Amino acid sequence: MRILSVSDEDLRLAAGALFGGKLVAFPTETVYGLGGDAFNVSALARIFEAKNRPRFDPLIIHIASGEDLEMVADLGALGRAARKKVDILRRAFWPGPLSMILPKKPEVPDLATSGLATAAVRMPDHPAAQKLIRYSTGALAAPSANPFGYLSPTRAEHVREQLGDRVDFIIDGGGRCAVGVESTVLDMASSRPWICRPGGCPREAIEALIGPVALGAEGGEESAARLSPGLIKSHYAPRTPLVLTSRAELSVQPPRAGEGFLFFDTPSRAAWLQDAGIGAGDFPARTLSGWGDLVEAAANLFDILHEMDGLGLSLIRAEEAPSFGLGLAINDRLRRAAAR
Ligand code: TXA
Ligand code: MG
Repeated sequence: MRILSVSDEDLRLAAGALFGGKLVAFPTETVYGLGGDAFNVSALARIFEAKNRPRFDPLIIHIASGEDLEMVADLGALGRAARKKVDILRRAFWPGPLSMILPKKPEVPDLATSGLATAAVRMPDHPAAQKLIRYSTGALAAPSANPFGYLSPTRAEHVREQLGDRVDFIIDGGGRCAVGVESTVLDMASSRPWICRPGGCPREAIEALIGPVALGAEGGEESAARLSPGLIKSHYAPRTPLVLTSRAELSVQPPRAGEGFLFFDTPSRAAWLQDAGIGAGDFPARTLSGWGDLVEAAANLFDILHEMDGLGLSLIRAEEAPSFGLGLAINDRLRRAAAR
């Protein structure tokens, strides 16, 4: 494995490797992706292998230009109204943290979509990702660059530590991914649009443009996991056990040795310290945001969980975020981190 920079020279070198079926981890505005050529079946197989990912869990296809959408998605297979909505959404949110599930073109290998007739497509908002996609075939299949089930990587170091030589190149974007949680996955191929995975593009922003979208499948968790197989309960988890809890519960539960705490914001942490009558340095206690900013909290989420996972704690007690805007994505990740 070799670490590359975001220089044009390095990105062209990485693109050449992608043409040869190699794997390149690259930064996006959400999390690092583990990229392979979307049309190369052996590269796709290597992605599943490197992540230890079950083959039934389909990959997101990353494109860098509007014209390339037609290369992977069959928009003609959508009804008029759905096509109009897709158009509105891509104009508003691409490039950005929104993946849309669309009918796929037959050229997209079944392996990329786990045999589904649809593909999740996204246009990342990161200059290095865009160049890498442009310099390669124009379509990169890229799941998050973590071993299956573990926390998503928000820094090049996370990828290096977690995947090491299972990837050929890592492009170091420098620092932390700006959004910090994965893209919102929105199913536009069903008769009724629904959010398979809350993420960096808030539900409210989508609804403001195309009207109500359901959160989750009609038949609940089980049916969601069948329709969007990545939605299994335990996911995005640190090695340290984690429980998701409320501020009220935290106040009544006396902290025990070996536990760490993750608060939504600084006022919440300060109130807890006071209620529990303990000093600021007595327990590891982090905050996602200084003053309750959901965007800042989402950006910090995986970064702080990675850090806390390295502290050798016996348990992480995490406080729920407010359940609107990016809080939906934060709570979704924390809930899945807690399920095991
Ligand atoms: O922000 C992101 O989306 C990152 C960066 C790298 O772009 N990628 C990412 O990919 O999170 P991944 O593979 O970790 O998550 C993709 C999710 C999975 O839950 C998968 O089941 C779902 O999208 N998905 C992909 N294609 C689908 C399809 N055709 N139908 C339903 N769900 C799909
Ligand atoms: Mg993932």
